Amino acid sequence: MVDGVLPLQPAAGTNADFIRSWGHMRTSIFGMGYVGCVSAACLATESHRVIGVDISEQKVRMLGEGRSPVEEEALPEMIRQAVARGHLTATGDAHRAILDTELSLIAVGTPSGADGSLELGFLKNVVREIASALRDKTSPHVVVVRSTVPPGTTERILMPILLEGSGRTLNRDLFVCYNPEFLREGSSVKDFFAPPFTILGTEDEQTFTRVARLYHGVKGEILRCSIQAAESMKTLCNVFHALKIAFANEAASVLHGSGCNPMEAVELFLKDDKLNISRAYLKPGFAFGGSCLPKDVNALVALGKAHGVVTPLLASINASNDSHLDRALALVEKQGVRKIALLGISFKSGTDDLRESPALRLAARLTAKGYDLRIFDPIVCMHNLVGANLTHVARVMPDLENYLDYDLDRVLDHGELWVIAHASPQIRKHLLARTHKAPVVDLVGTSIQDATYFSYQGLCWMPTP
Ligand SMILES: NC(=O)c1ccc[n+]([C@@H]2O[C@H](COP(=O)([O-])OP(=O)(O)OC[C@H]3O[C@@H](n4cnc5c(N)ncnc54)[C@H](O)[C@@H]3O)[C@@H](O)[C@H]2O)c1
Repeated sequence: MVDGVLPLQPAAGTNADFIRSWGHMRTSIFGMGYVGCVSAACLATESHRVIGVDISEQKVRMLGEGRSPVEEEALPEMIRQAVARGHLTATGDAHRAILDTELSLIAVGTPSGADGSLELGFLKNVVREIASALRDKTSPHVVVVRSTVPPGTTERILMPILLEGSGRTLNRDLFVCYNPEFLREGSSVKDFFAPPFTILGTEDEQTFTRVARLYHGVKGEILRCSIQAAESMKTLCNVFHALKIAFANEAASVLHGSGCNPMEAVELFLKDDKLNISRAYLKPGFAFGGSCLPKDVNALVALGKAHGVVTPLLASINASNDSHLDRALALVEKQGVRKIALLGISFKSGTDDLRESPALRLAARLTAKGYDLRIFDPIVCMHNLVGANLTHVARVMPDLENYLDYDLDRVLDHGELWVIAHASPQIRKHLLARTHKAPVVDLVGTSIQDATYFSYQGLCWMPTP
């Protein structure tokens, strides 16, 4: 049953029993390193028939003898048993492996190149080998890329090599999927069977179905997405893990250096799953501002300095935020118009706090460059501003009052470009209701779903199709 066209499967998020009922798959795995060996052993344990392929003769020989080339808990015994049962074999013959299997996982290394970008040489070599072997085979074949790659690699680099080299047609007799790997060395076998989820990057229904069969023994949801989203999210995961570790280490070092016990503070910090360990503050949007964030970042960096603790990550946070503001200014300037309607001026919607407001900084920079600006904000009223709020405005944009207009329609009529700086339902609703519309630069993501109504530019995202 393995080479025929399979029935369509339910939507993303499935791990259904009927996938299990299709039985084992003949799978070749290219690259018998940590990812490849663990995948090979786990899939063979799940009764799939696995051929491990590697250019290292030593690894192939060890696997042939039922020995694991890498050390991971439970792995040696799993490999010994899989080889003894005949569910796992190893070879250096890529051509033979392709002819004898219906699906290939690619798990070769993608090490850092001299400039920090990922080195794709191993990957391209394997893909060329697979493409060439496919010329000598008639049945359909599925290629699943598991190596970590820069976003865009599968579609822009690997697929063209595969299609040209094999002479096959995508989604007819050749199926390609990007399937990120989430295992961690040290707990890789457990992670293989219980990942956070399984992500299959493919827009093709049949490809999804074919690859999903492989994971019938794996817990959790199977999610389907575009190939680029699957590639991108893997990179985001690893970078975010690195960022979290560096943050925890730098922050704790500052506290420790200043004579406080970081562990107690960190335990409390971790208890907050509303704002700290949560989705909060992780969606792309405009720069941060307000009376607390920029100030307290500076304060922690200063505390570190006072105690001789170097904090390159913490010290770069406000600089990163400034770059985001520069990006917003550049995007507005790129539109090539002079009359601008800026919607929202306080540091976020729902408040009249202008302290460290990125919208206020943007407005000041636009007027300094001679743009003809009108500003609408549903809450900010110059006559009500007092204390530190007023002092801040006086410092950053003393003539703010000249640009504020309390009539939203008048501001919109003025603008050849509408710049949205507040994710305010009121503003969004108003924009949608208007018959005459100007191009939009969206700094906060409020109009993404309405992008078709506008000539639309997102600050660092594309409009939703
Ligand atoms: N190690 C991890 O914890 C982990 C986790 C998730 C993702 N990844 C990613 O998975 C990929 C593999 O990582 P790894 O740590 O298993 O790599 P590794 O370096 O341990 O193993 C790679 C293997 O590929 C083999 N190889 C190279 N060219 C080949 C070819 N033409 N044909 C067959 N085999 C070939 C090498 O001989 C080696 O045995 C990388 O992209 C990595 O970033 C790794």
